[in-house]
Formats: sequence, C-alpha cells, structure tokens
Amino acid sequence: MKKTLIYAHRGASKLAPENTMPAYQLASESGADGIEIDVQLTKDRIPVLIHDENVRRTTNGTGFVQEYTLDYIKKLDAGSWFSTKFSDCSIVTLEEFLCWFKFKPMVLNVELKTNVIEYKEIENIVYEALAKHRMLNRTVISSFNLNSITRMHEINPNVQTAFLTSTKRQNLAKFAKENGSTSLHVKYRLLDKKLLKNCRRNDMSLRVYTINRPSYMEKCFNLGCDGIFTDVPHEAVEYRKKF
Ligand code: G3P
Ligand code: CA
Repeated sequence: MKKTLIYAHRGASKLAPENTMPAYQLASESGADGIEIDVQLTKDRIPVLIHDENVRRTTNGTGFVQEYTLDYIKKLDAGSWFSTKFSDCSIVTLEEFLCWFKFKPMVLNVELKTNVIEYKEIENIVYEALAKHRMLNRTVISSFNLNSITRMHEINPNVQTAFLTSTKRQNLAKFAKENGSTSLHVKYRLLDKKLLKNCRRNDMSLRVYTINRPSYMEKCFNLGCDGIFTDVPHEAVEYRKKF
C-alpha cells in the first residue's frame, strides 16, 4: 500500500497564521509532503492566498478581496489576529509563494476559491502561473465549484484536478471523473471503504480534510487514502511513522 501523503492545510496553520509565509515555512520544516493553499483574486486580478472572500477574519481590514487592488491588500496586517508575534505578516501573492515553493521537494494543492465568487478567468490566471514556474507536474488544483474543475480540464486535460465536496451523493467518484476531475477531496465524514473502492475503480485519488485528530489520521492511514489535509502536519508526520 502506498503511503498517505500529508498536506499542510493553509500551511502549518495551528502554529502560525494560515496562508502566510511563516505557516508555509513551518509546513516545509515539519516533514509534510505537501502544502495546500487557497486562492482568491484582487480587483486588479492578481491571485492572492487567503481563505475567505472577505479580509475581515484574517487581517486588520474589512471588505472583499475583489474590491481592493494588490497595493492595498499588501498593506494589511495578516498576522496579528493570530498573535502579535506575527504582526509583520502580509497576504502572500501566488507569485511570491511559487518563487519560494518551487525549490522545495514537496507537492502542492491549489484550491480555487470559486464557490462563493466565481472569479472570471481565475483558472487561466492560476494555470499560467503554475506553468511559468514548471509546477504543473506536482500540483493538484481543487475546487468546490465543479465549473472550475471542468474549465481547468479544458485548459489542459493532463492537469491533476480534484472536486472538493462535503456532500454525499451516489457514484461520487464517477460523477467527479465525468466532469474532468482526476481526484476527490472529501470531508472526513464522507470517508468509508466503499468510497475508496469507487475511487480506485474509477482510477481516482482520494484525499481527505481536515484531519487533526489522531483517530481520524488512523482511519485515513489504515484505509490507505492518498492524502490528508491537516493543520498539524508535524503531528501527522510523527503519527504516520506507526503505520
Ligand atoms: O482542500 C481541503 C480544504 O481546504 C477545503 O476546505 O474550507 O478549509 O478551504 P477549506
Ligand atoms: Ca482550502
């Protein structure tokens, strides 16, 4: 059985503010196999790494990412909400991230945050950035919005894509595959042997979020899931040694 890959969810987001350089740096030091990042677009259509559509929760600003230019976004404090230790953190652009990440021996999951705001052309913009940095062969692009997956598959049918879902449905793996997905990323409560078997039958990878408890890790490792997303990659790396 192949080992289950560990992706640091928004970086090592238990130890540092999510989707910031310290969180990514700690993820790379944890021994995790990969990093998961969330992408939204600014008003001037620059891809930036932030989970929410609105900057309120994770910065000292308010309002939607798409209302502000990168220049404004960059001035926000993206760390103090977590701890004053991180008050010098700013929102990271995809470009800054890739310049750093491409030298790391790790895999990447880029989540397109298109489930609330369907940013026009985000698929092309992100694809071009990944291609420029020669990252396509170790990146899986995911989204809760199936249109984004289908668009990405149309841009390049060889790109790895993942339909993200927390909703149970009949023949989920087959459904995702028919819509251009090469893998499924599911919420933990959807995970069972049957789903994994269906993924295997459809030649799909299965990764599971968000796995922070040892008992959840145990189930994922025992079943042989292809990957997990965790806020505590350092703990997951230690725990996986037992399997
Ligand atoms: O990709 C797994 C996970 O990141 C999806 O949920 O809300 O944490 O982006 P969320
Ligand atoms: Ca995410």
